[in-house]
Amino acid sequence: MSAQPTTKRLSTRIKMVFAMVLGSVSVAAIANSATQVIEARQQNFETIEQNMKPLNSTLNTDLIDWSQFSALAITSHQAAIELQSAFPKGSDAGSRAKSSIWSKPAKFNTLMSQMEQGYADMLEAAERQDMALAKRGLKQVSGTCKGCHRQYRSVW
Ligand code: HEC
Repeated sequence: MSAQPTTKRLSTRIKMVFAMVLGSVSVAAIANSATQVIEARQQNFETIEQNMKPLNSTLNTDLIDWSQFSALAITSHQAAIELQSAFPKGSDAGSRAKSSIWSKPAKFNTLMSQMEQGYADMLEAAERQDMALAKRGLKQVSGTCKGCHRQYRSVW
């Protein structure tokens, strides 16, 4: 007779502890995945930035090394593709992403796809060894950086 209430109390307590553990695990998991998303996208931006100068100098020679140009364009294009889905809602805290990315997404998305398209043009140019198209693609990519940073990246 007296065992029942004890069991009941116990099971309630177990449920509470279980809920607390679950709660803290999921909060930690969310924080962890947001940090990973931010680190991954910053790494992709770093790749893009590091490739800009070599891409430029590869095109500014008389005899273009197309395999080098292509290798640089491939890694940049991959980074640009990943960046297109690297800004989930709520991933601004602890990063330089401004909230305008989510409140005014139209221009942000346009600039993102212009950057990706510029790299896609460079890949096609490498295949055809088409210098004019390669330069156009690179120019299109360069044109997106400042415009986006001015509006969507905080200065600190
Ligand atoms: C569509 C918008 C957009 C475009 C286009 C864009 N950026 Fe950015 N960039 C951002 C945002 C937003 C951040 C901040 C990301 C963060 O802190 O999570 C950033 C961050 C960076 C960073 C810093 C990464 C770090 O570790 O903090 C570099 C470097 C960078 N961008 C370079 C470039 C270059 C070079 C280009 C052009 C070839 C470019 N970006 C194009 C929006 C853009």
